[in-house]
Amino acid sequence: MPACFRETRPGVKIHFVTIRRAKRIRGRLEMPGDKSISHRAAIIAATANGASRIKHSSTSQDCAATLRCLAQLGVAIRRDGSDILIEGIGRDGFRASTEPLDCGNSGTTMRLLAGILAGQKFESTLTGDESLRSRPMQRIIEPLTMMGATVSSADGHAPLTIKGREPLKPIDYELLVASAQVKSCILLAGLNAGGRTRVVEDQPTRDHTERMLRWFGATIETGDAEKENERFSAILGPASFEGRDVNVPGDISSAAYFIAAAALINESSLEIESVGLNPTRALFLRQLQSFRFHVDVENVREECNELRGTIRVEGMRRRSPAVDSESLLTLHSALIPQLIDELPLLAVVGSQISAGIEIRDAAELRVKESDRIAATVAGLRAMGAEVEEFDDGLRVSGPTHLRGAQIDSRGDHRIAMTFAVAGLIADGETEIRDAECVAISFPEFFDLLDSVVER
Ligand code: S3P
Repeated sequence: MPACFRETRPGVKIHFVTIRRAKRIRGRLEMPGDKSISHRAAIIAATANGASRIKHSSTSQDCAATLRCLAQLGVAIRRDGSDILIEGIGRDGFRASTEPLDCGNSGTTMRLLAGILAGQKFESTLTGDESLRSRPMQRIIEPLTMMGATVSSADGHAPLTIKGREPLKPIDYELLVASAQVKSCILLAGLNAGGRTRVVEDQPTRDHTERMLRWFGATIETGDAEKENERFSAILGPASFEGRDVNVPGDISSAAYFIAAAALINESSLEIESVGLNPTRALFLRQLQSFRFHVDVENVREECNELRGTIRVEGMRRRSPAVDSESLLTLHSALIPQLIDELPLLAVVGSQISAGIEIRDAAELRVKESDRIAATVAGLRAMGAEVEEFDDGLRVSGPTHLRGAQIDSRGDHRIAMTFAVAGLIADGETEIRDAECVAISFPEFFDLLDSVVER
């Protein structure tokens, strides 16, 4: 019997996946290319002059949306096996799309492309699915307007109509929310600005845009709080650079589900090769190590300005479902942006630790693809965990013997995958509704899970 039983009920276009308890997780895996890096590679390659080959690009629906939008803007894109070939047209080679640009479910597509479109001479409309149209966009509208673009929206939400201006005015901008998407939007707009555009951030967010722009030859300056007294990223515009090949590392946020499952299940042994280990993304691993899970990193190397390496996980050796921990762990403030996509999963892991886990300062989770605080609280409660909900987070008591339940993924890929992991350690069956949404970031998820789960 496969680990995950997929079912489409007659007459209903909702896919259910049933997960049963796993005996152990064993094997060797490679993850699809990192989603965040693949978006940036495609957008920056399109802005370059000449061809770039993007190897091991993400297979996600989100990145497919970025490629479709770029094609609508006049960029020639070809698939060659798992590689994407992009014929860059230079930062002023884009042409207006006759149709709105549909970003699907992808906040990264919308916010990063908005930065590029703000510096174009034409008008563009960015839209997306219901979830994306409900997410906050004022955070990019404000800085892009300061740079001279005209952005109209539905009360701070998509659809966004952007009337670009070329060149844009460079700005010095302090982020109001710790968001790599907002930072990246401004830096990409800075490509078409006449001078130095600088973004100051209070808390470290992922820095793939800075690394990718540097890889392509743009002039990027970064400073950190210890040395320069403030953390900032700056770009010198207008910037022109040549196409260049990129090799994308495996997605650590996708690997996280397998790492957590293997760590939580006794006698597991799992190796994942060539996973991205960018320090602004890898905190999840350190967090698991601090819970005394057997997670090791080997063969670390740098490629295309990004770290990658092999992750090895051994299932915990004790028979008890709980791992000892001295005191309740609270994840908060500066840690949050570095763990943002792994927080629902960490709540599940926390439910297996004697002291439990508390997550605070994470109100941003409420404006992701779904309200991830509400979805995580509801799912864990349905599985028998004791959970307290806060405006900005949650507290889960541990250790809890989880029991199978019906989980509504709310169409949110990270919620579906989080509760698939919970289902592997729960008694009975866990049924995940709308489970096909995993394809938003990780279409291979259930097949790979089947390939390593033993029962
Ligand atoms: C992303 C940044 C994060 C993250 C999202 C991808 C990116 O969003 O949650 O999945 O690729 O820049 P915010 O930066 O808005 O928090």
